[in-house]
Amino acid sequence: MNTSKAKVDVVLGLQWGDEGKGKIVDVLADNYNVIARFQGGPNAGHSLKFGETSHVLHSIPSGIFREGTVNIIGNGVVLDPIIFKEECIKLEGMNIPVKERIRISKKTHLIIPTHRIIDAASEASKGKSKIGSTLKGIGPAYMDKTGRNGLRVGDLLAADFRERFEALRNKHFNFLKQFDFKYDPDTDLEKWLDAAEYLKNFELVDGEYLINEELKAGNSILAEGAQGSMLDVDFGSYPFVTSSTTTCSGSCLGLGAAPSSIGKVYGIFKAYCTRVGSGPFPTELFDQTGEQLRKQGHEYGATTGRERRCGWLDMVALKYAIMINGVTDLIMMKADVMDNFDTIKVATSYVVNGEETKCVPYDTYAEVTPIYKEFKGWNTPLSSIREEKDLPTEFREYIAFIEKETGVRISIISLGPDRVETIVR
Ligand code: IMO
Ligand code: MG
Repeated sequence: MNTSKAKVDVVLGLQWGDEGKGKIVDVLADNYNVIARFQGGPNAGHSLKFGETSHVLHSIPSGIFREGTVNIIGNGVVLDPIIFKEECIKLEGMNIPVKERIRISKKTHLIIPTHRIIDAASEASKGKSKIGSTLKGIGPAYMDKTGRNGLRVGDLLAADFRERFEALRNKHFNFLKQFDFKYDPDTDLEKWLDAAEYLKNFELVDGEYLINEELKAGNSILAEGAQGSMLDVDFGSYPFVTSSTTTCSGSCLGLGAAPSSIGKVYGIFKAYCTRVGSGPFPTELFDQTGEQLRKQGHEYGATTGRERRCGWLDMVALKYAIMINGVTDLIMMKADVMDNFDTIKVATSYVVNGEETKCVPYDTYAEVTPIYKEFKGWNTPLSSIREEKDLPTEFREYIAFIEKETGVRISIISLGPDRVETIVR
């Protein structure tokens, strides 16, 4: 049994992804020995900025820029060797010793090129009801995992790997027959095999042992979530979700950490909301204000470049996510985007089928009308503020309202993309 006090603290997004997890993990990473990704894959785009350097990570944990950190890619992740290699080569170009800092669980599932083809064929066949997937092969790779067909990183070391790889490809070709979809069966084949060889240069580990040994040695771990709680395969707006457990329990599943080893749960949310891809978004704005949020917040996908849908903060969804995750600390991002807004709105309840409710409805297709509370804007640039005492009164009122409604303290306020644009309370 682990008797040390070291814990696995978890950072996760409480909305529909893109909350700013990359920046916060990078800020917090100094306090941790180990940073670990536990789910998702290259559908994620975690942006970091320090000084002149801006960087987007897709499959590599956001602790990679910190000297002395161990960055684990956990068993719950799905890994595309091609994207991983490209990321590593970029980082090596910046003199980051990736091979020293990264460990990959042998139980991590592999995304192979035909997973991406299936993703594309499946989305194309759905027409208007498409999920809006990033088309990185995430869903098909998780289908193979739970369907017990998948290939894992550890399998790369097996003598018969190539045969198993071909067998899976053949299953995929058979599966693809149901779609009226044209594709080149050898897309990225050589590139993938080459990248898979490259992967073998890394320390491939029994991640669950490594995590528990680190805890036993008194080393604290930060688990880095991808996507957001409202995209969770169980608790999100199914079927407009991703294919993994993005909520707190996913960190146990995806790393082999016992539930009792979880310490703090940092829930990140933006001071407004965004969503990319299809699915319900009750507070979405289709007007000038929505456009202003998109422009001022640079709300374009870090992975796909798509325009993000923008809207007001949704307390119904936020409180739901806080409940599911057991959030201990809130982290608020990007309030500075609304610096020049005269009025700011927050949805405090919904009207569904003529009745007011504070719950997220089961029916993904239900028509939801939000009821808003209005706040006076602060009309002050926040980004240059470094001390809590210098925050404008209207902004403090906004924060106080969120803390009162959720019952959780906002312990970090981020007021810009750079590491230094952060107030720790
Ligand atoms: P980070 O970690 C925002 C969305 C997609 C789509 C749905 C399913 O950067 O916050 P998938 O590719 O998983 O099949 O897509 O989930 N999605 C994200 N949205 N941020 C992400 O990651 C996302 N990863 C997936 O747009 O609606
Ligand atoms: Mg993103």
